[in-house]
Amino acid sequence: MSPTPFPAILKSVDVLSDEVKSFTFEALQGTPFTNAQPGGHIDVLLPNELLRQYSLWRWAEDGRSGSVAVKREEAGRGGSQAMHDLKIGTEVTLNGPRNNFPLKEDAPHSILLAGGIGATPIYAMAARLTALGRPVQVHYLIRSRAHAAFQNAFESLGLGNALSCHYDDTHGLMDLGGMLDAAPAGSHLYVCGPEPLLQAVLNAAASRLPEDQIHFERFAADPSALEGPLDSFEIVLAKSGRTLRIPANRSILEGLQDAGIRVDFGCMEGVCGACIVDVLEGEIDHCDSVLTSDEQADNTLICVCVSRAKGKSLTLDL
Ligand code: FES
Repeated sequence: MSPTPFPAILKSVDVLSDEVKSFTFEALQGTPFTNAQPGGHIDVLLPNELLRQYSLWRWAEDGRSGSVAVKREEAGRGGSQAMHDLKIGTEVTLNGPRNNFPLKEDAPHSILLAGGIGATPIYAMAARLTALGRPVQVHYLIRSRAHAAFQNAFESLGLGNALSCHYDDTHGLMDLGGMLDAAPAGSHLYVCGPEPLLQAVLNAAASRLPEDQIHFERFAADPSALEGPLDSFEIVLAKSGRTLRIPANRSILEGLQDAGIRVDFGCMEGVCGACIVDVLEGEIDHCDSVLTSDEQADNTLICVCVSRAKGKSLTLDL
């Protein structure tokens, strides 16, 4: 079931580094953060109508408040700047939490690897595994000590030798293969960070760990998944019996919106999972970065913001 949007106010802001601030939102009613899990994220609808997704890095036990951390990106699309400009007391609409990056808490060993602001979900996982007393190794990769916004938070977990902070300017490139070769049997790997780091880790892990022990989350769409020519096709809406034509230059989500059909959405890039719809018939051309390869192979779920039909038609459970 889709989470319901809820109003919240910005309760406090903490400066974690020159570029990164933590924003704590408090729900105006209820305890929506009770559903928060390590790896989960919330949608933030900003006052200027920008909708952004941010991983939760901590939340209150009573479920009333939760915190996200945002790196200010001067060359970004405006979401991080709008977040950094938010004033304490501003009311925003939040939605979630959702979790596309779940943690297997009973794995024999977990390797958590964070690159830069990818520390947000990784910190929540490290905190959870530490609280459970589970074996874990955390690798935090950042450009320099000055950019290590989450180093104090990681150190506060008391991980000792199980925490390694790797600064590019003093340590150079990390030996990812060597790190994975030394991993205890049965290790699960979790990685979140910028695309080049993510690709390097996934390449190193591919020959060393089974696919179901490799978990990752992207900040943005996988560029390779969005390449190639686009064709038009039709979608059949099983519940209403309507048929819509999706032109080559429109997404399914845009086609649904054009027809006045409401579907949840968030990132519009295939990374947040908000727009997932059940597919009843037809072959899917998956272009998202959120469904697992098993889920994609099942051919029963589609991210309608980016994915399309492989053939002439798709029947959706709408
Ligand atoms: S809107 Fe985020 S995956 Fe489609």
